[in-house]
Amino acid sequence: MNRYLLAANWKMNLRLDEAKTFLKAFVAEYQLEGNGKRVLIAVPFPYILPALELTAGYSGIKIAAQNLHHEAAGAYTGEVSAEMLASCGVDAVLVGHSERRQYFREENAVLAKKAELALDAGLDVVYCLGETQAERGAGQTLAVVEQQLKTGIGHLDALAWQRVVIAYEPVWAIGTGLTAEPADAQAVHAHIRALVEQLHGADHAQATSILYGGSVKPSNAKALFAESDIDGGLVGGASLHLADFTALLKALPSA
Ligand code: PGA
Repeated sequence: MNRYLLAANWKMNLRLDEAKTFLKAFVAEYQLEGNGKRVLIAVPFPYILPALELTAGYSGIKIAAQNLHHEAAGAYTGEVSAEMLASCGVDAVLVGHSERRQYFREENAVLAKKAELALDAGLDVVYCLGETQAERGAGQTLAVVEQQLKTGIGHLDALAWQRVVIAYEPVWAIGTGLTAEPADAQAVHAHIRALVEQLHGADHAQATSILYGGSVKPSNAKALFAESDIDGGLVGGASLHLADFTALLKALPSA
């Protein structure tokens, strides 16, 4: 299977009219440049339905939510459940983004519940992990990533695992303009793949998409995507600009 995937994370950006304009223009670019490549766009909740409409007919383009609640249903004012997302027709959801971990105090135990609910509802999960600057400085990168992986999604069975994408996003590289050196990112990706192999065997490890995130942009994408265990990117800032995101689509290998 082709592991390559280009994922956008719009975060809390763009008005609805801007989002629609972007998607209309992007699907036109995709028709020219897409070549069957896999794209996932994580949009704010209110844009899910229009985004699904505007990308319908492009089987390579999927729409994701950026979050879900860790309970299945009930009196949780303002929250959105896995079932609700699935009933809208959304394809996937981000779980464990560092901004959720940092600003909303989401711990691995809560993230484990989110991942399980999402997968049970039929959604794919993009599970994000990565170390802070201080953890990297202390030489803890691999240990932190291992802990986040094992306690967040380590309990999932092999069947569920087929619908999990992992995004390695060093916290110090997100939105800062700093990017991990391709070889450094590759070392972490190889470690993650080895962990997946320990959990579920070599076939699953080889089939799992492991994305890199953190200031991915047209100028650094080719070198990152050329690494053997980097299967594409999860992109914030550069996913908001059509020319940049289209350039990233071009930089993504086809197979
Ligand atoms: P960035 O964000 O590309 O703006 O660094 C990546 C992310 O947070 O997923």
